[in-house]
Amino acid sequence: MTVLETRALTKTYQMGEVAVTALDCVDFCVQRGEFVAIMGPSGSGKSTLLHLLGGLDYPTSGEVYLNGQPLSGLSDDEITELRRHKVGFIFQFYNLLPTLSAAENVGLPLIIDNQPVARHRSLLEDLLKLVGLVERSEHRPDQLSGGQQQRVAIARAFVNQPEIVLADEPTGNLDSRSGSAVLELLRKTCRERCATIVMVTHDPRAASYADRVVFLKDGRIVHELANGVEGVPVQRIADVMTQLEL
Ligand SMILES: Nc1ncnc2c1ncn2[C@@H]1O[C@H](COP(=O)(O)OP(=O)(O)OP(=O)(O)O)[C@@H](O)[C@H]1O
Ligand SMILES: [Mg+2]
Repeated sequence: MTVLETRALTKTYQMGEVAVTALDCVDFCVQRGEFVAIMGPSGSGKSTLLHLLGGLDYPTSGEVYLNGQPLSGLSDDEITELRRHKVGFIFQFYNLLPTLSAAENVGLPLIIDNQPVARHRSLLEDLLKLVGLVERSEHRPDQLSGGQQQRVAIARAFVNQPEIVLADEPTGNLDSRSGSAVLELLRKTCRERCATIVMVTHDPRAASYADRVVFLKDGRIVHELANGVEGVPVQRIADVMTQLEL
């Protein structure tokens, strides 16, 4: 079943006299439960695509459909609702609040949503357990390693039981070992919670954890690789990057 779809999705930024086309007529489809990686050189439109998929920004033309519903048909309130309850975001720089503990950071979306956190204690504990950080629940971000901070961010992304998790370079700041741990965790959580993941990355090793890899260049999809359940071989990804000069 298709959960996310874009049709002729286009985003142009007007910079004075010059128009920059960040996305150019992108048709893209994601099935429920899929883990899709988006690759491409710097400036190819990866983050722009992710922002449009999550309703963080609006297209210039074309459409994003979530479960068949066009996002352009939603009011501002409905878009906010969607961002809070249907989508989880993970960013390169974790975006944790420095004064809050790990548990409080995981619960932050609930606080923003005016939900009583006390009632969700066991949910927060489950999520911290899932990412292997129950013993660190009272630690502040500056008392955690980069990989641990990103695991807190992953737990936070799942707190509202999102249908879709959008991750922009989630391992961009991690060494390869913590990066692998984070990716394993993402893949596992995605499967266990039947969530769909769209992850942007520069790194072929990170992309190899996905079920499918989509390559962007100059705002267009130029290639796709798919390989069933156990990810796409790194070498195939690297070969495509060389062939397409990505
Ligand atoms: N707010 C903006 N205003 C003007 N131009 C923008 C804006 N955001 C992005 N762009 C331009 O759109 C293009 C795509 O940007 P985008 O951030 O999507 O690239 P990216 O693939 O995520 O790159 P990176 O790998 O460096 O993060 C770039 O040419 C960029 O300069
Ligand atoms: Mg980017």
